[in-house]
Order: sequence, then structure tokens, then C-alpha cells
Amino acid sequence: MPENMLGTRPGKLIVFEGVEGCGKTTQIQQTQGWLTASGWLVALQQQQVLSDLVITREPGGTPLGQALRQLLLHAPPDDMLHDRTELLLYAADRAQHVDTVLKPHLEKGALILCDRYTDSTMAYQGYGRGLDRQWIEQLNAIATGGLQSDLTLWLDVDVELGLARAQQRGRHDRIEQAQLDFHQRVQQGFRELAAAHPERIVRIDASLDPAAVSQQIQEVLLRRFESWFR
Ligand SMILES: Nc1ncnc2c1ncn2[C@@H]1O[C@H](COP(=O)(O)OP(=O)(O)O)[C@@H](O)[C@H]1O
Ligand SMILES: [Mg+2]
Repeated sequence: MPENMLGTRPGKLIVFEGVEGCGKTTQIQQTQGWLTASGWLVALQQQQVLSDLVITREPGGTPLGQALRQLLLHAPPDDMLHDRTELLLYAADRAQHVDTVLKPHLEKGALILCDRYTDSTMAYQGYGRGLDRQWIEQLNAIATGGLQSDLTLWLDVDVELGLARAQQRGRHDRIEQAQLDFHQRVQQGFRELAAAHPERIVRIDASLDPAAVSQQIQEVLLRRFESWFR
């Protein structure tokens, strides 16, 4: 990836992570609205430190990924998705997304808000399913070609509260229907990842109302903007 004069690649990748119903989709929309309404996006564009704002997600951030997402979330019930199969489908989705969406936009200087990325694979397939975590690290490295997030916002909410919110949303996909202890292992995974990578992963208290969650995210982003674009 090309480097600019400051020795960093152009563009920034901000990832939203957390268990089902923690508020990722809601907060990506709120962040997009805030960046636009506050004038921050236009200001950063005028300073030519950023090009566009791009909203995307995993799985499903590309046309191929949409088909993989459908398989992952609604696999045919009579053909159970095995754990390694699931892991590899997520990796395939990621490789396509990195090469055709994330890297091209970052090279042009975009600010990307991405719903889930590598930490979800570690939390769900590593901690949740119990697959070998070294495999997952290696597979994440293959799928991303080494592209890491600049910042990951971990929306931390109790699993029961998150699942209750997701229930209200109506549709119940394959992952939401998994057992509570699976989701609790996933949550433990996010906890350990955040402790292990305090620079990259910032915890947000996502149990509060949406406006209070947004407020925390805005504060974190403003601090990062200062260090990134100063
Ligand atoms: N802070 C919050 N407090 C209460 N309900 C919320 C909050 N954030 C989101 N919701 C609601 O909970 C449900 C799940 O939120 P969503 O953003 O879809 O979560 P995710 O994308 O992480 O699964 C939605 O119906 C949403 O409107
Ligand atoms: Mg969502």
C-alpha cells in the first residue's frame, strides 16, 4: 500500500465490533450523521486529509460477499455449516472485501466505517466455536493481506441485553439463534482482545441509550482525529 509523506497510508479504517444487538448498525448511522452534520467531514476534506466517507460491512460488503453472507446467516438447515467451513467462508468474504473495497478506498484517502472485521472472526470462531486461535490469526493475515484497522470501537453490552435488542428487531439469523453460552464465550473473546490491544481497540459502554453511546464515540473520534490529522 502506498505511503504518504508522513509515512502512514492515506485513509483510515474504523471498525465497529461487538456481540449481536450491541448497536453497531445504529452507531455507524449515527456516526455518519454526526460527521456530516457537525462539518467535520467537510473540514477534513477541505484540508485534503480525507476523500470520501465509506460505509461497509462484513460479511457482505461486496456482491460476492452478499451471497456468502446469505449462506453464513441462513445456511440450508439440512446441510449444517461446519466450523471450519464457516471460518473459511468468512475469510473468503474478507479477502474479496479487502481487495475490492477497503484497500482501493483507503489508497484514495477515504474514511471507512466498517461493521465487523478481524476481531469478530477471533471472537466468534476462535473463542465462540473454539477453533485454534493461531490458525485464525494466520487466516486473518492471509485474508487481509496485513491490513489492520486504525481504530476498532468495541461496543460492549451484556450478551443478554444485546440479544434482547436483536430479538426486537424481528428476524433471527443462524448466529442469533446460537446458545447463550456461545455468545458469552464470544463476549469473553472481545474482552480479551480489547485488553491485549489497548491502542487499537477502544471500549465503548453500549448499554446506555443510543445518544449516550454516540457521545462516547464522538469523543474517541475527535481525539483520534487530532493525532491522525494534526
Ligand atoms: N443504545 C441502544 N439502546 C437501546 N436499543 C438500541 C440501542 N442501540 C440500538 N438499539 C436497538 O437494538 C436493536 C439492535 O441494534 P443494531 O444497531 O441493529 O445492533 P447490531 O448491528 O450490533 O446487531 C435495533 O432494534 C436498535 O434499534
Ligand atoms: Mg447490525
